[in-house]
Amino acid sequence: MKGIILSGGAGSRLSPLTKVTSKQLLPIYNKPMIFYPLETLLKAGIKEILVIVAPDRAGDYLRLLGSGREFGAKFTYEIQDKPEGLAQAFIIGEDFLDHEDVAMILGDNIFEDDLSQEIQSFKSGGKVFAKEVPDPERFGVVWFDHEGKATRIEEKPKQPDSNYAVTGLYVYDNRVVDIAKHVKPSARGELEITEVHNAYLKLGELDVETVKGEWIDAGTFSSLYRAYKLAARLAGENDD
Ligand code: DAU
Repeated sequence: MKGIILSGGAGSRLSPLTKVTSKQLLPIYNKPMIFYPLETLLKAGIKEILVIVAPDRAGDYLRLLGSGREFGAKFTYEIQDKPEGLAQAFIIGEDFLDHEDVAMILGDNIFEDDLSQEIQSFKSGGKVFAKEVPDPERFGVVWFDHEGKATRIEEKPKQPDSNYAVTGLYVYDNRVVDIAKHVKPSARGELEITEVHNAYLKLGELDVETVKGEWIDAGTFSSLYRAYKLAARLAGENDD
């Protein structure tokens, strides 16, 4: 299995911090943000990783991450010219993936749990990870039936009666490249990852697992602050 870290976008919600560098390179306690999703992939034994970045920040990523040798891995880089949606990553990554399965993680997603087992046990189809949150309307939302099977996924529904957000870690077989190519841009002009989930859900091949520990999408000032506190705790510090 190969890995993708999607780390593009403008990070405009975090301006002026993101005038200096990319959101995913901002410090979270003792490490740049991207180290957390990177470690999620490395722990799962994924050694070939494609880092997708915005054109104006590519130099910062190369300086920080380099070849990957220091991490016992091999990094490849691609530029996403415009933030045209999460699902575009599979199209950009087609040659890199070379018919293999993929675990894609967003560069601003921090997981407390070690998800190695869940990633390594993947066989085929798709596997995504859900977490109960107080503000589901900010995310892709998943509904479950009484047996805990996912029945529906919607991107940022207005007043959802489910509190389960789909987190930014996605494991897919190589059919995802073709599926992504058939996704039409949404009203906000993006190839939505939720469309990919729904394609697998329709095939009856989407596994949705719940995450027990903390999960943070560090895209806002308040979640950045929560991320900092989680990272300090994970590093064994008591910051209070
Ligand atoms: O964090 C999980 C959520 O991520 C999911 O629940 C949603 O289903 C999914 O659509 C996404 O929602 P966001 O509103 O958080 O997406 P956002 O546009 O903020 O992008 C997420 C990250 O991916 C962000 O760090 C920037 C990066 N990105 C985004 C886009 C659209 C790219 O690198 N390229 C892109 O084209």
